[in-house]
Amino acid sequence: MGEIVLSGIRATGKLHLGNFLGAVQNFVRFQNSGEHRCFYFVADQHTLTEPYDPEDLRQYLLEMVKDYLALGLDPERSTLYVQSSVPEITELTLYLGMLQPVGELLNIPTYKELVRKHPDNVNHGLLTYPVLMAADILGPKATLVPVGSDQVPNVELARDLAKRFNNRFGHTFVVPEMMRQMVKVPGLDGGKMGKSDADNAIEIKMPIPEIRQRYRTKGITDKERTTMDKPGDPYNRCMSVYPVHELVTPGETDTREIAKACMAAEIGCVACKERLVDSLAAMLEPFQARRVELAGKDDYVREVLHEGGKAARVIIAETVAEVRDKMGIVLY
Ligand code: TRP
Repeated sequence: MGEIVLSGIRATGKLHLGNFLGAVQNFVRFQNSGEHRCFYFVADQHTLTEPYDPEDLRQYLLEMVKDYLALGLDPERSTLYVQSSVPEITELTLYLGMLQPVGELLNIPTYKELVRKHPDNVNHGLLTYPVLMAADILGPKATLVPVGSDQVPNVELARDLAKRFNNRFGHTFVVPEMMRQMVKVPGLDGGKMGKSDADNAIEIKMPIPEIRQRYRTKGITDKERTTMDKPGDPYNRCMSVYPVHELVTPGETDTREIAKACMAAEIGCVACKERLVDSLAAMLEPFQARRVELAGKDDYVREVLHEGGKAARVIIAETVAEVRDKMGIVLY
């Protein structure tokens, strides 16, 4: 049987290669398999938990959705919506919150990290972030949630809430499975791509010449390979070039052509970077062409989100009606 796949995306910043290879590619695969019902949404309310600018939020949201559409999410095959378009999610957050011990929320690693990051902005929304996330997941009764490893404790909490609700009020929720998105894409400096303070990302909208320039000047290869006639160690010492070849250069993980050439000192780091950017260009150019077509189509994007929101709302409202009923809440 097919899964009910669900994942949320925060409306911050620009989409980079790490988001694409780590997450969006999986979303598109689930969608295109034709076997699953897919829900993908922008978690705009989650974005409010950290300092932000309202005008930026409005603007980023549409731009992000254009990126996702250009990357292959298809409103005919997936339900694409914005969290706030479905107010029943917020209502479900309140009900689930009644089953959630505060002590557990205080111990969630992402919460602790944000308390450290903004000690003067420890708001209630930050604490209940995972409960809102549980409502996102349980609203459409998702069975499979693809997430990055930083989100694992949050999905665990959603699973616990589903079980707690079922135990207390009778079977209502499927306990969702989590799929960890394991692909790690190193940024130019070798650290995780997109870390907020590091200027290490390759944005997927970036013109290819700019990507080339960034790899040329900032890409870090094997530092111990001081001259081209010395063999390199692509697997252990190349920080941000070979690991990306493995992800984007067709056939490399089968043939190991580039790795072998590096270890035999037959290809230098400059040429290796050029080949990497050629692979990236082949992958990104069709996306960039579609993205240009969508650039001026704000109304189309709004329409997609409006229709997606309506469709999601029908399904989530049904769950919330069931939850109210089981919890003894009557709408008069
Ligand atoms: N918190 C997630 C992130 O920062 C985004 C998110 C919100 C999400 N709700 C979700 C992911 C529900 C999966 C399921 O990446």
